[in-house]
Amino acid sequence: MNDQQLVILLNEMTLEEKIAQLQQLAANFYEGAESGGQITGPMEAMGITDDMIINSGSVLGLSGAEQVIAVQEAHLRKNRLGIPLLMMADIVHGFKTIFPVPLAIGCSWDLERTERSAEIAAKESAVSGVHVTFAPMADLVRDPRWGRVMESTGEDPYLNGLYARAFVRGFQGSDLKGDVNRMAACVKHFAAYGLSEGGRDYNTVDLSERHLREYYLPAYRAALDEGAEMVMTSFNTIEGIPVSGNVKLLRDLLRDEWGFDGVLISDWGAVKELIPHGVAEDEAEAALKTIRAGVDIEMMTACYVHQLPELVASGQVEISLIDEAVLRILQLKERLGLFENPLRGADPVAEREVVFCEEHRTAARELAAKSCVLLKNEQVLPLAPGQRIALIGPFAASGDILGPWSWTGSTEDAVKLDAAMKARAGVGQITVAEGSGIDTFSEELWLEAETAAQAAEVIVLALGERSEMSGEAGSRSDIRLPEAQRELLLRLKALDKPLVVVLFNGRPLDLSGVYDMADAVLEAWFPGSEGGAAITSLLYGDENPSGRLSMSFPVAVGQIPVYYNHFNTGRPLGAPDADARYVSQYLDIPNEPLLPFGYGLSYTTFDYSEPVLSGDKMTGDQPIQISVTITNTGAVAGEEVVQLYIRDISGEVVRPMKELKDFAKISLSPGESRELTFTLTEEQLRYYHSDLSFASDPGKFELFVGPNSRDAKARGFRLELAAVENKRHVLS
Ligand code: GLC
Repeated sequence: MNDQQLVILLNEMTLEEKIAQLQQLAANFYEGAESGGQITGPMEAMGITDDMIINSGSVLGLSGAEQVIAVQEAHLRKNRLGIPLLMMADIVHGFKTIFPVPLAIGCSWDLERTERSAEIAAKESAVSGVHVTFAPMADLVRDPRWGRVMESTGEDPYLNGLYARAFVRGFQGSDLKGDVNRMAACVKHFAAYGLSEGGRDYNTVDLSERHLREYYLPAYRAALDEGAEMVMTSFNTIEGIPVSGNVKLLRDLLRDEWGFDGVLISDWGAVKELIPHGVAEDEAEAALKTIRAGVDIEMMTACYVHQLPELVASGQVEISLIDEAVLRILQLKERLGLFENPLRGADPVAEREVVFCEEHRTAARELAAKSCVLLKNEQVLPLAPGQRIALIGPFAASGDILGPWSWTGSTEDAVKLDAAMKARAGVGQITVAEGSGIDTFSEELWLEAETAAQAAEVIVLALGERSEMSGEAGSRSDIRLPEAQRELLLRLKALDKPLVVVLFNGRPLDLSGVYDMADAVLEAWFPGSEGGAAITSLLYGDENPSGRLSMSFPVAVGQIPVYYNHFNTGRPLGAPDADARYVSQYLDIPNEPLLPFGYGLSYTTFDYSEPVLSGDKMTGDQPIQISVTITNTGAVAGEEVVQLYIRDISGEVVRPMKELKDFAKISLSPGESRELTFTLTEEQLRYYHSDLSFASDPGKFELFVGPNSRDAKARGFRLELAAVENKRHVLS
């Protein structure tokens, strides 16, 4: 149907039918397709009537080809105008084949495999009846106390934008209507949810508009520029107004300035949460504020269906606001081809072949291997064939390696570390002992572990967080490993054997008592369905670790927020003329993180030549080329992530010490050299000024090329702009 036909359909709808289209309910309202959703517990509590179900516009969390077909067909039998349901769900990093959590994927610096992971997730979801995924999550994160950092790709706006684009391309493809193996992307959580105060979920966010635009908005914008069909509002406030009721953010910026005319959905309950936030007295005021802000779909509360009829009747809400919201939803259904093909890709036969197939699991294993980060290695890795290994720890044989957003993923199906290592090294080489619980210590478990360790040449210690210790509502004030695991490590250390720690976690941890004690540390995050196989391939050197941190590891929780693109301050620690005390510092810990953004080790070594610039002057139409030769100076092949940063020495506002502007992940054989040439343009030097104009400033800059944000070679250059060139794009 074209827009004209959709408007005709819209005009045939009653007000109740229109308003019900704005309602999204969870799958349990629809269970038992033949009943079409009998009045059950949650329905009664929410005052949801059968008619509201019959006329609702979308479902949250329904999947399974047969189930979706049954619900959709039952719905179409009852819906007066035959308007199909949208099936939406959280497919964040895989449907049944679970890929590493996004923070792990963020450490892969592999955009191709990232896109492939989203394409596979879409294929498995679509064949199981899902039309829309609530992903990518493009929140910039700087506070590992926040449980949801595992859902983000990290602390850099540029890198997050590249990942957001890759996820959208993979989910949606280039022909959403024609390719039923794809699904629509809903970028979330708009906006700046990652800045929740104290790292405590759902908490207040407050920042300047300049900072919001400079750091927190770019990745959402990138997802929309890539064509993401939907946006989800975040739970937090911006400038004192909860996002779901924030006209300035949603209408003025998202819709008017950015031109987004897609569907805007609230997060779960976020409409009604205007009441506890304290900007709405009741559901009527909550509905009024959010429909005016442009929220099209209310997820899992019922302010719209209960209050909008009266608000329209009383003239407080113009019917045009309802119509525009309904039309956007109908247009999305049309773009997904649901009017012609309401079952879209749901196919019980194909589902059995496609979901969790070997090809998909191979892709998950490859991406997991690329996402692990070697944080330390004092010549104990890779393991040698034939070595007797004691594999100890609560994650030695755990399936809880999928992460907190794996939804239909199965921990039983996950490849566990013990099975993979036994398969690789031979059963006789690997002795497994739990050693301790996640957060409980037992002398009995310890004695088993001690016996295993004493008989071994190398100890591999698999430690970490339970998946629900991160994720939504998973904030922690103390981000160390639980005491029981640190006790286990301490006791094993006393046996004076090579000690390799493998970490399974959803956030950068405070590695006090771990990093210094271990001879090697491999960060595996929540590696997904094939995690054990991926980790084993790295431990034995079948693959060379190539992950690089996309989020800093703090020295201690007291250092948070710590991130690489920070400002210098007026009294930077370490400045040549700095006073010993009166500088920006802690009395008890360093300012620098334990491990910086971009950091990661390899089993080989790489040498960087001095960067050579095409010139030391850049103009508006004359970029600078930077050439650097990288050599693999070690004995094994490996991948290096060559990173290019800049620093604006003097801006109109303070500028970060470094900003990532480009990178290249290259593979080099032993002894092989490769010359890379980056091009840096004036556009890449632009930033938001105090008046929110977006422009570059002529003057002195530095650029850095290196293996991470700390160890990089610097070169200076100047940007020179003719007066006319330096025209600022002042925001309206
Ligand atoms: C949750 C999350 C959001 C998710 C939604 C639907 O509260 O904040 O990321 O997409 O509800 O499950």
